Amino acid sequence: MAILWPLILALAISLAIARPPNIILIFADDLGYGDLGSYGHPSSSTPNLDRMAAGGLRFTDFYVPVPLCTPSRAALLTGRYPVRSGLYPGVLYPGSRGGLPLDEVTMAEVLAEKGYLTGMAGKWHLGVGPNGSFLPPHQGFHRFLGIPYSHDQGPCQNLTCFPPATLCFGGCDQGVVPIPLMANLSVKEQPPWLPGLEKQYVAFAQNLMVDAARQGRPFFLYYASHHTHYPQFSGKTFVGRSGRGPFGDALMELDSAVGVLLNTVESLGLIEETLVLFTADNGPETMRMFRGGSSGLLRCGKGTTYEGGVREPALAFWPGHIMPGVSHELASVLDLLPTVAALARAQLPNVTLDGVDLSPILLGTGKSPRKTLYFYPPFPDETQGVFAIRHGKYKAHFFTQGSTHSDMVADPACQALTPLTPHEPPLLYDLETDPGENYELLSHGPKEEIKKTIETLKEMRLLKAQFDAAITFTSSQIAKGLDPTLELCCRAGCSPWPECCNCPGSQHNTPHK
Ligand SMILES: *[C@@H]1O[C@H](CO)[C@@H](O)[C@H](O)[C@H]1NC(C)=O
Ligand SMILES: *[C@@H]1O[C@H](CO)[C@@H](O)[C@H](O)[C@H]1NC(C)=O
Ligand SMILES: *[C@@H]1O[C@H](CO)[C@@H](O)[C@H](O)[C@H]1NC(C)=O
Ligand SMILES: *[C@@H]1O[C@H](CO)[C@@H](O)[C@H](O)[C@H]1NC(C)=O
Repeated sequence: MAILWPLILALAISLAIARPPNIILIFADDLGYGDLGSYGHPSSSTPNLDRMAAGGLRFTDFYVPVPLCTPSRAALLTGRYPVRSGLYPGVLYPGSRGGLPLDEVTMAEVLAEKGYLTGMAGKWHLGVGPNGSFLPPHQGFHRFLGIPYSHDQGPCQNLTCFPPATLCFGGCDQGVVPIPLMANLSVKEQPPWLPGLEKQYVAFAQNLMVDAARQGRPFFLYYASHHTHYPQFSGKTFVGRSGRGPFGDALMELDSAVGVLLNTVESLGLIEETLVLFTADNGPETMRMFRGGSSGLLRCGKGTTYEGGVREPALAFWPGHIMPGVSHELASVLDLLPTVAALARAQLPNVTLDGVDLSPILLGTGKSPRKTLYFYPPFPDETQGVFAIRHGKYKAHFFTQGSTHSDMVADPACQALTPLTPHEPPLLYDLETDPGENYELLSHGPKEEIKKTIETLKEMRLLKAQFDAAITFTSSQIAKGLDPTLELCCRAGCSPWPECCNCPGSQHNTPHK
């Protein structure tokens, strides 16, 4: 008997100091609530994400706080409303002077502090800055392979289709440097051949996992795919295969990458030690029509604070820890930093956090501490404050505005020409009976519930007043403007600029004439 005690003690200690889980955070681009098979899309091909949904937790009420790339990514990585970090209005550009301030604490920094090996693949979009000072290696990521912004924020018109160096579908930004693919702080290829990217990202991710396992450390992988952002591209084996056009092919390639990541985790024997999260930065860009996503039954898409702009598919997969099912709890990308910090038993940053710990929902031990979520438009203004509030099952709109991104749908409220409109009383919807925000409660709600409606409006006004009064807009990083000399070029100072930044190492460049 006595001989067993050291063993039992060792076991008890090893349980008490059980390794924190590996974290894989997959972030899709411009993917709508209705785009995945598991969220009801009839022709998308997403078997691996559907497998995550079936074997994990599928959220129905998961949100981003702003319907746009840069602010949404800031919220994800900091757990804070992006006006706090100055990431407004709009998005960052290749020559932007600003970026995610270095004193903001990112999820990568929180986990690196706990001994995690951290890496990011894909689209950053949180700034480049002087000498690349805002890039991921300065924000907690030990490794980075990716493009510092959207792939259409440079001349991408010959980079998305087959054969290489032919003119492809759609417009891309001109007059800036070719898109750089960065390996840490160096330009690896400029421009890279886009249909070859996902393969490189997957290989990078696999190396990260293998190296972490070899070093006996947990890993954090932030996999921010360029899919499914306009103008759409995919590797050769996916072109024409999805049954849903170029958008479906791009989504299918992302899904396939998810499958490889899951298989890698499995083959390393880490499937029960790895939390895999999947969500997206904002709703679909419907102005792209066939090449944009779908918000399903929700109203409008990217750029608007209607549900289609801010409610996203979200999956959490962790066999042996997360019971498969569907969660209707209110949750947000803001909550992921506190959640992974709790699971890793890491110290929270000493700042005002807007996220809450969702680990009770994941582990099935409790409900979401979140009751309320506030939504900012792409171009927020301190005097207007938040545009909309979700509180319990209700949503109130104090301001609405259409968006170019949400053009080409039938509903005029979504479209670019619909101007900023204040609402007093605010428009009120019951998202349980009416997730599509079709029937405004004060004008169409049941007469016998009018008292309740008026009370709810009063509560919403109070929430808005309190929230707007309490939050501080930090001075804007984006308003610092552009300096073309900050655009990353593999041959700094070359001429004729910017074309001379087409650099060797890019196998698919057409020689500059
Ligand atoms: C960038 O780095 C170079 C070399 O370290 C330095 O000389 C230069 O001043 C830096 N530029 C800025 C804007 O920080
Ligand atoms: C980045 O730097 C790390 C650490 O030095 C290194 O292991 C890695 O291979 C580098 N490149 C990429 C693409 O991560
Ligand atoms: C893109 O492709 C078109 C058509 O093949 C060609 O005329 C043009 O020079 C190419 N542009 C670049 C930047 O390679
Ligand atoms: C947290 O920040 C506040 C205000 O900046 C500071 O007064 C306090 O000492 C900090 N606490 C810790 C534990 O660092």
